[in-house]
Amino acid sequence: MKIITVDQVSKRYRISRLGAKSIREELARAGHRLFARSASREKEDFYALRDVSFEVERGETVGFIGPNGSGKSTILKLLARIIYPTLGKITVRGSVASLIEVGAGFHPELTGRENIFLYGSIMGMKRSEVRAKFDRIVDFAELERFIDTPVKRYSSGMYVRLGFAVAAHINPHVLLIDEVLAVGDASFQSKCQQRIEELRHNGMTIAFVSHDMSAVERLCSRVFFLHKGIIQAEGEPHQVISNYFSSLFFKHDVDEQRHRVAVHNENDREAEILGVRFLDRVGAKVDAIATGQPMIAQIEFQVSRSIEDPVFELFFYSIDDRLHCHYTTALTGDRIQLLQGRGIVEIEVDELGLAPGTFRIGALLQRRGEDMPCDWKPRQYLLKVLPGKKVRGMFYSPHRWRLLPPSETPKQQEEQNCL
Ligand SMILES: Nc1ncnc2c1ncn2[C@@H]1O[C@H](COP(=O)(O)OP(=O)(O)OP(=O)(O)O)[C@@H](O)[C@H]1O
Ligand SMILES: [Mg+2]
Repeated sequence: MKIITVDQVSKRYRISRLGAKSIREELARAGHRLFARSASREKEDFYALRDVSFEVERGETVGFIGPNGSGKSTILKLLARIIYPTLGKITVRGSVASLIEVGAGFHPELTGRENIFLYGSIMGMKRSEVRAKFDRIVDFAELERFIDTPVKRYSSGMYVRLGFAVAAHINPHVLLIDEVLAVGDASFQSKCQQRIEELRHNGMTIAFVSHDMSAVERLCSRVFFLHKGIIQAEGEPHQVISNYFSSLFFKHDVDEQRHRVAVHNENDREAEILGVRFLDRVGAKVDAIATGQPMIAQIEFQVSRSIEDPVFELFFYSIDDRLHCHYTTALTGDRIQLLQGRGIVEIEVDELGLAPGTFRIGALLQRRGEDMPCDWKPRQYLLKVLPGKKVRGMFYSPHRWRLLPPSETPKQQEEQNCL
């Protein structure tokens, strides 16, 4: 059964603009305004959303991703009826709880306790129903000490704790969650994600906006990618996230520069990276590998003339764009020679050290000792790392433990190596 229907919805804002083309013009306008005492700003229509349509089935968890200003929060605000569409129609069947802006929905002068009851009554709950859930909410928010403090004294993290705890315990039909969770500390964020999974399994319908792609991928059954107020892609999370990444590729100056250098002259290009793929231990192509499992990565390339002593490199970037791992043939010192034509170079890793998450992979081919790459594909491929061997911290490192026999144990305390 459809619980949300968004039918050809557009949201238009009227924004002010000076409209001047140069500083000189702007100064002239400012002078004119000073004397005319009339702020002759030009009004302009701006579409935060344009002709957006989608439906959500009861029990689905849908994610909205996209760059800043693409319209994600606008969609949630429309579903929460905080704002209304300029064109089109929105139907949400059932009650909606939302966590969209820090502190929204709370009365600043009231205490945490009073706000919980207020929110409950807005959601149509009886006082006795709220009372039955009160302890669980306060427990979850970990705000026992401050529950009788007016919420205007709360920090942003405390607001979000209370907001999420209330929204996630009053059993709305639809739960809307925007990026605000990011304000909470790491342990609270992971607790929220666990709770979202629980609610999801209990059949709640959830709409989730985030820039944390691993969370989106883990929590959502379907994802929408928005760009400039238009739905660019919709579907299976891994697919849509890759689509979003592809649109981001040349945002990075360094990458762009390197890529431009690499493809400076298409006809004169001496080598091209055709693709990167990942294989499991039996050589089957995969797009996900668990931490601690063996990984084989293959770079397929084509060279138009032979290259003496080339270097291949692979870069693994996390979603927040940190370089987590880098492999290069330069370190192994092996000299190879590439002959004209297509070829594959392969790297074998006994135990993958990356922690679970989604990684964007860059591949590079250059002559040893040269700055200018023959080809460079920045963040163009994807690898999902699944939970495998337990990782606490940034990465797993293959290792062995051993208890030394008594014969190898120092007899005296002083012999121990103290730092
Ligand atoms: N009240 C408003 N008046 C004018 N423009 C607005 C208003 N609210 C939002 N916008 C504009 O609508 C666009 C979409 O905003 P929205 O908040 O939905 O983006 P977003 O995808 O949530 O971005 P972010 O990732 O930064 O949270 C932005 O360009 C924003 O400036
Ligand atoms: Mg937003």
